[in-house]
Amino acid sequence: MNRALILIVSLFALGGCRGDHFTEPPIHFNPNMDTQDYYKAYGSSELFADGRTMREPPAGAVARGFGKTDDAYDRGTDEFGEFITSFPAQVSVSRPLLQRGQERFNIYCTPCHDRTGSGNGIVVQRGLNKPPTLVDPKDVNGQRIIKMPVGEIFHTITNGKNTMPAYRGQIPTADRWAIIAYLRALQRSQNADISDVPAADRGKVQ
Ligand code: HEC
Repeated sequence: MNRALILIVSLFALGGCRGDHFTEPPIHFNPNMDTQDYYKAYGSSELFADGRTMREPPAGAVARGFGKTDDAYDRGTDEFGEFITSFPAQVSVSRPLLQRGQERFNIYCTPCHDRTGSGNGIVVQRGLNKPPTLVDPKDVNGQRIIKMPVGEIFHTITNGKNTMPAYRGQIPTADRWAIIAYLRALQRSQNADISDVPAADRGKVQ
């Protein structure tokens, strides 16, 4: 009888907590970061003179992605939001730019796209789905990417596409343009005929 009573009382005692509202945090036997003090958004704070928990950004701070005003250079688009088809005014395609682009392409793009752009990089050999060829004029994707506006390629490098990661954090804007200039050279090199070779050098090729 006594045992039954103890059981019933303890069931009630346990059940009594259900639905109750507590303002104190529950007892934590293993105190960790779950129970740290924190301010709620828009709450008040005695720490700051103005009494607010939320702080103004420091003067001159620019939210990521909101600071740039040059559509062509920073986004690869014109004033209507369409991808630009020629390099922005700030980018002058020169030999040093191509060399820089080659170096950066070989660092950042070849793991997947390989040095020729055919899409057979080391990561692909280890199991990543093969990306489209960037250069082969006989392939439907190759044709599409050879004709792709430079602004769209810039957009792809900046923001990624499907399984291709975004490189905006790793590759500065100027280098993204250098890579595109080099990619254009790669495409040209796979699609060249003898008239692309200066007349004086043609003998060396044949
Ligand atoms: C981690 C592997 C990986 C790396 C590194 C990588 N890509 Fe890609 N890339 C891909 C994959 C996968 C696709 C195919 C995306 C899709 O599904 O359309 C792709 C697609 C593309 C395309 C075609 C986009 C389209 O619209 O079809 C371009 C252009 C491109 N990559 C350029 C680059 C350049 C330039 C770099 C170096 C800055 C680079 N990629 C680095 C994996 C990669």
